[in-house]
Amino acid sequence: MCGIIGITGDGEAVEILLEGLARLEYRGYDSAGLVLGSPDGLWRARAATGTRSLGDLRKQAEGAPGACAGVAHTRWATHGHPTEHNAHPHLDCSGAVAVVHNGIVENGQELRRRLAAAGHRLASDTDSEVLAHLVEEELAAAGAGDPGGDTPGGAAIGAGGGVTTGGEAIGAGSPGGVTTGGAAGGAAAGSVLAGALRRALAQVRGSYAVVVQWAGDPERLVAARRVSPLVLGLSAGGAALVASDVPALLGRAERFWVLDDDQGAELVPGAVSCFGTAGEPVAPRALAVTWDLEQAQKGGFADFMSKEIAEQPQAVADTFLGRLRADGTAGLDEVRIGEDALRAVDKVAVVACGSSYHAGLVAKLAIEHWARLPVEVDIASEFRYRDPVLDERTLVVGISQSGETVDTLQAVRHGRGLGARTLVICNVVDSSMAREADGVLYTRAGPEIGVAATKTHLAQLAALDVLALHLAQVRGALGGPDAGRLLAALGRVPDLVAEAVARAGAVLEVADRLRSARDVFFLGRHVGYPVALEGALKLKEISYVRAEAYPAGELKHGPIALIEPGAAVVAVATRTPLWEKLMANVEEVRSRGATVVLVANDGDDETASLADAVLWVPPTEPLLAPMVDVVPLQQLAYGVARAKGLDVDRPRNLAKTVTVE
Ligand code: M6R
Repeated sequence: MCGIIGITGDGEAVEILLEGLARLEYRGYDSAGLVLGSPDGLWRARAATGTRSLGDLRKQAEGAPGACAGVAHTRWATHGHPTEHNAHPHLDCSGAVAVVHNGIVENGQELRRRLAAAGHRLASDTDSEVLAHLVEEELAAAGAGDPGGDTPGGAAIGAGGGVTTGGEAIGAGSPGGVTTGGAAGGAAAGSVLAGALRRALAQVRGSYAVVVQWAGDPERLVAARRVSPLVLGLSAGGAALVASDVPALLGRAERFWVLDDDQGAELVPGAVSCFGTAGEPVAPRALAVTWDLEQAQKGGFADFMSKEIAEQPQAVADTFLGRLRADGTAGLDEVRIGEDALRAVDKVAVVACGSSYHAGLVAKLAIEHWARLPVEVDIASEFRYRDPVLDERTLVVGISQSGETVDTLQAVRHGRGLGARTLVICNVVDSSMAREADGVLYTRAGPEIGVAATKTHLAQLAALDVLALHLAQVRGALGGPDAGRLLAALGRVPDLVAEAVARAGAVLEVADRLRSARDVFFLGRHVGYPVALEGALKLKEISYVRAEAYPAGELKHGPIALIEPGAAVVAVATRTPLWEKLMANVEEVRSRGATVVLVANDGDDETASLADAVLWVPPTEPLLAPMVDVVPLQQLAYGVARAKGLDVDRPRNLAKTVTVE
């Protein structure tokens, strides 16, 4: 997740861009950069000093030339280190085309190779940069490659008036009035730059919100989106604006529109016009904005935790992007550990803490079942002290959202010291673990601000499934039909997660019944056990309710003594292996007077008949079920905490990243 803002038609463009970046920093802060356009060409400044990036950019911008149009970007790295040369905006070979991008160019490597072979000089390691070079090529093909020549595109840019660029223009020409004009009757008649961007994007697979500025027409911005969001705005004074999200435009734009998937927009002073994939004019969707700045940064959600729960389908989909291949294989191109090395592995040792540890427990089941490789899972803080048996045939997998948790970092180092291969699953590019491990598999959840891990946990589960399938395939442990079935099932997971997320209202009603519970017991078996552990951890950390999770079969060996009338039991009772045995355990606690809440698959009345309340989820493959089944447990914890009036984003005594032993 990155943040984008662009503006044209305001003499204070620099200030508005910098203000917008500050408001978009919740989307990432690895680096910041901007480009300003003037008849003299493009002027660029970039900084990649982590949380200081924006301040450093601001200092550089003190020397900026006067300009009324520009684009800016704040980055959350996914491809390439968070360095200045990878910071946006990216330029083409001539420095005449500037691009800011949020998303993932899935075929970025392939395009880089093709562009390099064609003589392009790629200056960064990012997937995004290819967009600038593709636009460069398309401009040249349209005979408009030389920005020093005639005004390309021939589009008349009227100050404050409608613009004749073919789209349906939303003008701000008459005071207070909306003028629509310039619609070109459905034909593709946009500017040269819009045409070049459309043809460039036709070569791209993946997701994007992209804004382009060109020295040949410096007061025009062209934007387009697929999956990644973009909003458009017009100010009272006629400035046209575009941004990843509403907060960047608050107080600047007075009217807002949303760009839908596969739509593009042209922005010139005084007007915005929108077009579809073939360049045909389309009417943009108006957006009524009533939020203040703080509400807007949370996307209208009450807090970051609920926003991040809602972002989970996207986090999972982005983590799969480019890794579930059309040829039926799970690919890990970027991992830096070759297939021969993975074939030589005879044991996997997973190390992690908290929610990441729970993801590791699910991964054990998947790797052992699909790849037939033995897997040990350790709480990272215990790992090195048990003197684990590791050698060069062991693959140590560290799982960490932050990549900085010192216990996990030390465990990975310990593995490396004993000659093991090390692979890290993490969400923060260039974190300490990512730098030190032999290989990295990034989750692509974007920054997570709430202390409770939600979307990063699901993204870890998604990444670990890809790893498990990849191991299975390189080791020949999984037949083609099975792999194909699993890949198809994985592809459906984002939608299933979205279905589960959408049921928050029903879960919150159940949460209300648990708000005064003193102790809550979570039960699960097989894949349901790590889900139960995660549900209990969420409830403990944000609602301060004592919650313990047990593998349900273990109940009779002691914990059942705690069950008495009024005790609350939450069991993960979806149709995964051992469902029947789990239900027998549920009967045991029910008969002792416990209030029973069950996570059950849609339509499973048999399971529901044993419950006082049901948290419904759609069914999926058993080993993939944790990504869906955990959602109502996150919402349950959230609901209890909110019912108790607690701050869900900043629970007491906890830090987002634990860098002390
Ligand atoms: O950044 P990490 O994934 O290494 O963090 C591990 C734990 O500290 C983390 O999962 C913690 O348990 C969360 N607060 C859980 O919601």
